[in-house]
Amino acid sequence: MTRRLALVGLGPGDPDLVTAQAVRVLNEVDYFLVADKSEQHPGTADLIAMREAICARHVRKKWRLVTVPDPERDRTDPADYTGAVQTWHEARTVCWEQTLLDNPGDTAVLVWGDPALYDSSIRLAHRIVERGVVDVEVEIVPGLSSVQLLAARHGVVLNTIGGPITLTTGRRLLEDAASGDNLVVMLDGALTCRRLPDPAGWRIWWGANLGSAHEQLVAGHLDRVVDDIWARRAIAKRARGWVMDTYLLRRGGV
Ligand SMILES: C[S@@+](CC[C@H](N)C(=O)[O-])C[C@H]1O[C@@H](n2cnc3c(N)ncnc32)[C@H](O)[C@@H]1O
Repeated sequence: MTRRLALVGLGPGDPDLVTAQAVRVLNEVDYFLVADKSEQHPGTADLIAMREAICARHVRKKWRLVTVPDPERDRTDPADYTGAVQTWHEARTVCWEQTLLDNPGDTAVLVWGDPALYDSSIRLAHRIVERGVVDVEVEIVPGLSSVQLLAARHGVVLNTIGGPITLTTGRRLLEDAASGDNLVVMLDGALTCRRLPDPAGWRIWWGANLGSAHEQLVAGHLDRVVDDIWARRAIAKRARGWVMDTYLLRRGGV
């Protein structure tokens, strides 16, 4: 019998930011599945606890959380980033597949933020279908992303009037900032905007641990606030063992 594999976006951490559709699906499935990275990154156990708090708040029946240990990504050859990620995705697919085999029933994968934004769950789920070892029907439940919450907290519009937004990562920022002047940056543990050649020419709207009790917000001209952001980032990371941050960068600063 075909089983349900729902990828449920839970939003960026705050139980108030979970959609009614996500709540409905969580209440319909047999168990929840979550990737567990705490072996490699001990602080990230918090992120599982935050998902549990969301379930405790919204699920009206007895629920069960199954964790899938996340295999380590090979970081030995930075030049082959895409190849390393593809190999890693395949290893993760096999882990998910085995977990589905070991745990019959309909499943909801608890996805941080929105599943369509810098998250591999959709790719893994399609790969599970392709491999045909487990018979599942994939369903995507969108969630509020950290980027939307960043914009709301700062009260900014992500685009300039009629203008484009470049959504990028720390790894690509310097290259993308050479051609774009309105960028949203994610996955940037190095706060790469510190290395932009003309910091006085940019404004930044930064947010860390958005939607949690430890939320941090800073906005201003990049050259004036970047050291403060770097210091707050380091303190937040020391305190909990992890920090998640994202920012909007705009040249000219309007
Ligand atoms: C693997 S991506 C997942 C993004 C997620 N799917 C989303 O929609 O927000 C992780 C990155 O998202 C951003 N992020 C996720 N949650 C965040 C939060 N609560 N506060 C600030 N940034 C967050 C950070 O840039 C982090 O490095």
